[in-house]
Amino acid sequence: MRRKIVAGNWKMNYDLAETELFLVELKKQVFPENVMVMIAPAFTNLNHAFNSVREHPVTIVAQNMHQNNEGAFTGEISAKMLKSIGVTTVILGHSERRAYFNENSTVLSEKVNTALENEMTAIFCVGEELKDRKEETHFELIKTQLSEGIFHISDDAWKNIVIAYEPVWAIGTGETASPEQAQEMHKFIRKTIAEKYSKEIADKVSILYGGSVKADNATEIFGQEDVDGGLIGGASLKVDSFMKIINAFG
Ligand code: G3P
Repeated sequence: MRRKIVAGNWKMNYDLAETELFLVELKKQVFPENVMVMIAPAFTNLNHAFNSVREHPVTIVAQNMHQNNEGAFTGEISAKMLKSIGVTTVILGHSERRAYFNENSTVLSEKVNTALENEMTAIFCVGEELKDRKEETHFELIKTQLSEGIFHISDDAWKNIVIAYEPVWAIGTGETASPEQAQEMHKFIRKTIAEKYSKEIADKVSILYGGSVKADNATEIFGQEDVDGGLIGGASLKVDSFMKIINAFG
């Protein structure tokens, strides 16, 4: 049975007071037992968030981290620092990191290694631009992102990996992938993992969909065979909409 996960990627939103206001409301909620709930606040709020939800079934996630554990990397955050405040799950390879901060597959493969060496769970993001889909090279691109970014890891390491498929053209646009489009790519990702590793490993990997998931489309998307949850941006910033998405697993 694959882990069902709904993770909120808050990106660069919410200061400490706004984070606490959200957490006060979130802690009042009751979650479906079969769903892992995660939120990824800004770095400055991780320690507070971790301690605030310590008694609640909420996993606090970092939105990124550097591939080195320490050193002259001004402005960066290390796995060692994240683990020191109890954060052991990290998002890697988000399209915004790839696009705005030049995180290529070489850097991302190093970050994956660092996460695994520090016994962290990595949510590894892949996704195509609209031009790739229009040119029908999107499957080839996703396969390359997987093979160059994460297909060097051992069989055993997959227990610490979650994949997030986020079509860039659906992120923050309100243009959600159709359930059929999501299922098609998730099935392809699972098949690609199975071909490289094994069906046994591929069948255990949680593959999340991200890209304009909302309360009114989550049920259909999450109902797809190879969709194991979502990586949610805008709709995760309000407890009401976030809970409707979590409850879409019913
Ligand atoms: O990482 C999740 C994010 O990229 C999706 O954003 O606002 O389209 O749900 P959004």
